[in-house]
Amino acid sequence: MDTTRLLQGLRELLGEAALITAPEDIAPALIDHRHLYQGAAPAIVQPADTAAVSRLLAWCNAQRVGVVPQGGNTSYCGGATPDASGRQIVLSLKRMNRIRGVDAANFSLVAEAGCTLAAVQAAAQQASRLFPLSLGSEGTCQIGGNLATNAGGTAVLRYGMMRDLVLGLEYVLADGGVVSDLAPLRKDNTGYDLRHLMIGSEGTLGVITAACLKLFPRTRSAATAWVSVPHPAAAIQLLGRLREASGDRLSGCELVPQVALDLVLRHIPQTRDPVATRAPWYLLAELTSSGEDELDAMLENALASAIDAGQALDATVARSEAQRDQFWAIRENVPAAQRRAGGSLKHDVSVPVSMLPDFIERGAALAAQLAPEGFLVAYGHAGDGNLHFNLSQRPEADTAAFLAREAPLKRAIHDLVAQLHGSFSAEHGIGQLKVRELARYAPPAELAAMRSIKRALDPNGILNPGKVLDPG
Ligand code: MLT
Ligand code: ZN
Repeated sequence: MDTTRLLQGLRELLGEAALITAPEDIAPALIDHRHLYQGAAPAIVQPADTAAVSRLLAWCNAQRVGVVPQGGNTSYCGGATPDASGRQIVLSLKRMNRIRGVDAANFSLVAEAGCTLAAVQAAAQQASRLFPLSLGSEGTCQIGGNLATNAGGTAVLRYGMMRDLVLGLEYVLADGGVVSDLAPLRKDNTGYDLRHLMIGSEGTLGVITAACLKLFPRTRSAATAWVSVPHPAAAIQLLGRLREASGDRLSGCELVPQVALDLVLRHIPQTRDPVATRAPWYLLAELTSSGEDELDAMLENALASAIDAGQALDATVARSEAQRDQFWAIRENVPAAQRRAGGSLKHDVSVPVSMLPDFIERGAALAAQLAPEGFLVAYGHAGDGNLHFNLSQRPEADTAAFLAREAPLKRAIHDLVAQLHGSFSAEHGIGQLKVRELARYAPPAELAAMRSIKRALDPNGILNPGKVLDPG
């Protein structure tokens, strides 16, 4: 269908207010967060409600128009960027940003897909509840995108990933059919749980329009420490110690190497070294509780024993909310600091937590051998075995020469991960960046089942074409 007819059709279907067509207004949605993909599209379509999404998909399905759902456009894998053909449209649920209701007694709330994660957290907080998903991009990313990609972040250790936080879902299928299952039930064993097919499908099986989310009691006490550790094995021992010593109140446990701290201190204004003792590695550990617990004392005692046992070298426990925020700002600014340091090669991997030290040692050796123009910036969610095994280019290195190392390095790192029974995409999904990796590493029977599901739910291939699965 030519662009004029396409735009005319969309206008008739949804009204002028739902359409953005000025090139300068569309431009930011056509390039991904990492600037790896430049797409093209004649319009961003912004329906106002689920019925409009349904009309849109039914029409696009009949006309064979590809639809690329996009939330806050913070994908690390080009998951929300259209291709370069100019024949796909971007679907934004930004106007669907209502909290439909908070049920404090039931520990649940219903949010529309276009709510930012921060807005969902704030709505829970107002009702004296906690919505625990926590990401660096929480002010920008949208809950629909968090659901579609099964987002992870820094509290997975305690609360699980996005799919663990969902009680019900409302979504629209490729043919326009609406499934509205927003009841806040904790038990419902009635047939296939299609909700979990939608979550993590990256918009390739349906478009999520709203969700009933699980809440927890509000956090009333917290203790946060920045800990110097001698090596990753000590960090993992310390993780176990903190879980045991705190009655499992450990809600965050992030590993940060010295190089990452230095990058942040160099590139991000108003950041300060949090601890006196420099060390090759640091752990940012946080205990939280819904009670008025003495968490500082609990954390300090556990850290003192860890220092005696050689698992930690030194530690600073945050004395104020501001200091706690400073610690987190260092961790959350590592990706931004890496961006400012030049070219980077990224691997979002996970291995069983106990295998992390082995993985880091072997992966570091591969990186040194296969990408000598770079240096390792491996950081991340140690508590769940998820490492952002990234490299940054050395200041003196040629960017093109460094980036040319990507393919062989990626193969070696992902092969190592496979050998350790890990995942080549722990929390960032597949998008368009890792389609070939999925085809390579997924068990053939699983891949075939995924393709059958895609064909069954989206026979015309209109939903986020080219993402997750290749055409097969
Ligand atoms: C993070 O944990 O900071 C993000 O997942 C981003 C990254 O890959 O660096
Ligand atoms: Zn992460």
